[in-house]
Amino acid sequence: MIVNGKNRQSIWYDASGDEVLIIDQTRLPHEFRVLSLVNLESACAAIQSMQVRGAPLIGVTAAYGVYLGLREDPDSLDRICRALAATRPTAVNLQWALQRCRDRLASVPLDRRVEQALALAQDIEQEDVAICEAMGEHGADLLEQLWQRKSQDHLNILTHCNAGSLATVDWGTALSVVYKTVQRGVPVHVWVDETRPRNQGAALTCWELGQAAVPHTLIVDNAGGHLMQQGQVDVCVVGSDRTARNGDVCNKIGTYLKALAAYDNGIPFYVALPLSSIDFSLESGLNRIPIEERDSDEVTEVAGIMLDGLPGRVRTAPPGVRAGNPGFDVTPARLVTALITERGAVKAETEAISALQGAADR
Ligand code: MRU
Repeated sequence: MIVNGKNRQSIWYDASGDEVLIIDQTRLPHEFRVLSLVNLESACAAIQSMQVRGAPLIGVTAAYGVYLGLREDPDSLDRICRALAATRPTAVNLQWALQRCRDRLASVPLDRRVEQALALAQDIEQEDVAICEAMGEHGADLLEQLWQRKSQDHLNILTHCNAGSLATVDWGTALSVVYKTVQRGVPVHVWVDETRPRNQGAALTCWELGQAAVPHTLIVDNAGGHLMQQGQVDVCVVGSDRTARNGDVCNKIGTYLKALAAYDNGIPFYVALPLSSIDFSLESGLNRIPIEERDSDEVTEVAGIMLDGLPGRVRTAPPGVRAGNPGFDVTPARLVTALITERGAVKAETEAISALQGAADR
């Protein structure tokens, strides 16, 4: 991703200082700040506080967390993995990355574990870039076809939350599809759902689309259905935190309502996801995926920059009100037009998804 003219990733290893560096996403869009993760504790805190977030990036950060933890104590692989696994519950990429670390490192002698853990984290990081690019190209094939059938002056894409470069190492999942479509010369415009309560759409997606000079408009979460009825949305593209074997998709809260509106209006609803976001052990998604319940303050308050330029929060609800804050929801497979993976687009159906399992097992 280009930030102020410079090529950046959301996470990277700096060999000169033996440091793992991240973009602090809690500061965006107001401040671009790079943070160093120095130990297991800071890696766990970065995931938990959402300085890094987005399913694929959580997985990559966990792999670096294993490296940082082993650097402190090479003989504590299990304890390190348990600490990282407890940070956030929904994105299956976290478990996927930790399982990969366990499989690779458990039998490595202690005096070689640290170097191997670093090499593995770097592999996972670079694979993520390649996977996201491949996903973007497959998605762009679909969007280019839609564009060719359309007679108006641009293709209107609606997206939810942030499934962009910031949610991965680079490129993104849903937004990789957007970026690759733009690279093919298709004029696109993106409707960005603000994505309350944490506003990943307003803060992160608008920021990164702005950096990439992709035309976009921020909308409140409730506007999507209306825009779809008015013929102002040609296609929806979102990401996923965990997808079950039958194609049920768990993603940021509010995704389900967008999928229902898209279905009702005959608008394609695509989900872009790496194979590492598929939980092949889950036959279906409804009531089986752990849904993160977050702090009620995120609902009763809004965070942002105050008029004096300093970060602040304002309360929008009466003091003491009870607020519920489920972080994710499940969109049933029947509402999903196709899943866009690094292996191509597939139907959101058990047979097609099970056929991908071989490619996911390494
Ligand atoms: O709570 P977040 O910000 O980690 O949620 C992120 C999302 O829901 C994304 O849409 C999802 O991780 C898919 S992204 C590549």
